[in-house]
Amino acid sequence: MGNAYHVLTFDVPEGMDALPGQFAMVRGAEWGDAPLLPRPMSYLTGGTRPSILIKVFGEGTIRMARAVPGEPFEILGPLGNTWPGATPGKRPLLVAGGVGVAPLLYLARELHGQGQKPIAVYGGRSHRDLPLNEELADVSELYITTEDGSRGAAGRVTLALPELLADDVEVFTCGPDRMMAAVAELCAQRDIRCVASLETPMACGYGVCLGCPVKRTGGGYLYACTDGPCIDARSIDWGEGNHAPRRIERGER
Ligand SMILES: Cc1cc2nc3c(=O)[nH]c(=O)nc-3n(C[C@H](O)[C@H](O)[C@H](O)COP(=O)(O)OP(=O)(O)OC[C@H]3O[C@@H](n4cnc5c(N)ncnc54)[C@H](O)[C@@H]3O)c2cc1C
Ligand code: FES
Repeated sequence: MGNAYHVLTFDVPEGMDALPGQFAMVRGAEWGDAPLLPRPMSYLTGGTRPSILIKVFGEGTIRMARAVPGEPFEILGPLGNTWPGATPGKRPLLVAGGVGVAPLLYLARELHGQGQKPIAVYGGRSHRDLPLNEELADVSELYITTEDGSRGAAGRVTLALPELLADDVEVFTCGPDRMMAAVAELCAQRDIRCVASLETPMACGYGVCLGCPVKRTGGGYLYACTDGPCIDARSIDWGEGNHAPRRIERGER
């Protein structure tokens, strides 16, 4: 999968089974002091051998990418909510950007197992930013976009959406905030339900540190780890700078 993307598979005890949309806080047990905090990662698969897809970004994901077979990890999960159930009569339209494909591929496999074939739109900067696209094609009707035109249609994922946003679809999206904001806007214009899986930076992952606030439409805050990560896009204020990490007081909620 090139140097940037890696799939890590873990052996975990029975009873840690995760559903599509949930995430885990992941940290190498032998990392020492740095990085101190675990990193939130969506489940790509569940069961007793769950896996995650990582994009190498900073220190934590570099350490994950260098992990050797048998290396011990601390996995706190499953955390957060799941993708909501699909509305009867609606066809799921999955919109993925880059590594945001992980929770959507898990969802697509689940839907495929139930006899459904979701539509999927998957975008990246270039053909190198489309990890697991073949696996997604196996379980969906897949449309690919790349910003440099090296694969699929040239442009952003939102380019492919207008003709796919029919009355009988509902959208599930995960990717960079700006992409999800644009997807949410297109859906809102057509009164189509859109659920976004947020990748807001997190410290604890379970509601204690207040480090993952997301502005709520109409005022106040949602917390990505406990109210999400899967949240109805209409309840999020997608305004500029919404997801910059900041600490707020509990009373502000
Ligand atoms: C619920 C959830 C699910 C996620 N699922 C995945 C996944 O499946 N695969 C994957 O590769 N990544 C996923 N992420 C993002 C991943 O957690 C971050 O990329 C990771 O924490 C970066 O850690 P790092 O140590 O490599 O980089 P750091 O050294 O921690 O980060 C480098 C810089 O990026 C900033 N930063 C860190 N995290 C983010 C972020 N999420 N958004 C914007 N800026 C950030 C930091 O402030 C810092 O400036 C998910 C995040 C969340 C909240
Ligand atoms: S990450 Fe700590 S409250 Fe959400």
